[in-house]
Amino acid sequence: MRVRPALVHLVRRGSLILLRDGDCATVAFDPTTGAVIPPIYATSTYKQDGVGGLRGGYEYSRSANPTRTALEGNLAALEEGERAFAFASGLAAEDTLVRTTCKPGDHVVLPDDAYGGTFRLFDKVQLPWGVEHSAAPVSDVDAVRAAIRPGQTKLVWIETPTNPLLNIGDIEALAAVAHEAGALLVVDNTFASPYLQQPLTLGADVVVHSTTKYAGGHSDVVGGALIVRELELAEQVAFHQNSIGAVAGPFDSWLVLRGLKTLGVRMDRHCDNAEKIVDFLNNDPRVEQVIYPGLPEHPGHELASRQMKRFGGMVSFRTVGGEAAALSVCERTEVFTLGESLGGVESLIEHPGRMTHASVAGTDLEVPADLVRLSVGIETVEDLIADLDRALG
Ligand SMILES: Cc1ncc(COP(=O)(O)O)c(C=O)c1O
Repeated sequence: MRVRPALVHLVRRGSLILLRDGDCATVAFDPTTGAVIPPIYATSTYKQDGVGGLRGGYEYSRSANPTRTALEGNLAALEEGERAFAFASGLAAEDTLVRTTCKPGDHVVLPDDAYGGTFRLFDKVQLPWGVEHSAAPVSDVDAVRAAIRPGQTKLVWIETPTNPLLNIGDIEALAAVAHEAGALLVVDNTFASPYLQQPLTLGADVVVHSTTKYAGGHSDVVGGALIVRELELAEQVAFHQNSIGAVAGPFDSWLVLRGLKTLGVRMDRHCDNAEKIVDFLNNDPRVEQVIYPGLPEHPGHELASRQMKRFGGMVSFRTVGGEAAALSVCERTEVFTLGESLGGVESLIEHPGRMTHASVAGTDLEVPADLVRLSVGIETVEDLIADLDRALG
């Protein structure tokens, strides 16, 4: 009888040992002591065994810290990248990536419905330093190709699904378009998480995460990450991460690591609950339109079915009564907490136009005023549906 390989197997990444189980990877144990949970190495520096005699390569915690190393190894394994880098926030990761890959005079193509903070970084911080940008819909490969300025465009930057309109971009096709032009494809994978989608395996060069969201999963940490497919770029990012210094601290790294241990089970529950809520909203006359890539009528449904495992925990909808109705729903829910952010175990509701996306008001990226965004949590779904039903009035 043939012995079948175990579902769970060990993967070595430098000094780290990772458990890999199909779609999930988690740090197996601390290589120094065998502690099953990697310790929080609250230290800024390390004893050297003689000048330059570093123990395990650790010298100073901006350059590397074992808790951060554990997180970075875990993220690299989950996204199937060459290396991962953990930052103090998603925007710190984004800023470091732009400064690694672009110089004044270069150009970046952005989604025309990018996360407001990403747009603000490019428009208000990078542009004055000379990095230009233009926007194109991620769901339209030809429009992205047309937005590229040959020789000048260094990055094609997408989110899929986008925040908050949940548009879907074809990662494989957009990687080809970017590469034809000598640019890199960057995918912000925050909404999907590596459990549902692995852009590097589809040809993307860099994955961005706000680990504040599904990776952390408990609304108790702000963090970011870059995961890079190839060694050469990884080395450049490593240099910039250390030189700029916007790194994740050991406590924050530990929280994200702990979150990642339950990523798979959380994501499945987020998806189960989101599907039932979509079903409810889609049959409710007080709702004008439900936006969810799992709906067959969503223009990106077929593509999302191919490149995502499931459709995620984010749901957007437009209310029949316009902006006033949208604001009123946001203010009346009790189980859904009114707040920015997403990806935590508790459900959140927000009005993108006035909250997360206020920074794109008056630009081409402005979001509809009657739009409500839900981050569906892992609570009992009947409670969530009853809450929305009451709040819709
Ligand atoms: C899709 C997306 N990317 C990036 C970010 C920025 O991450 P952070 O808030 O951790 O800086 C966010 C934050 O909401 C986001 O939603």
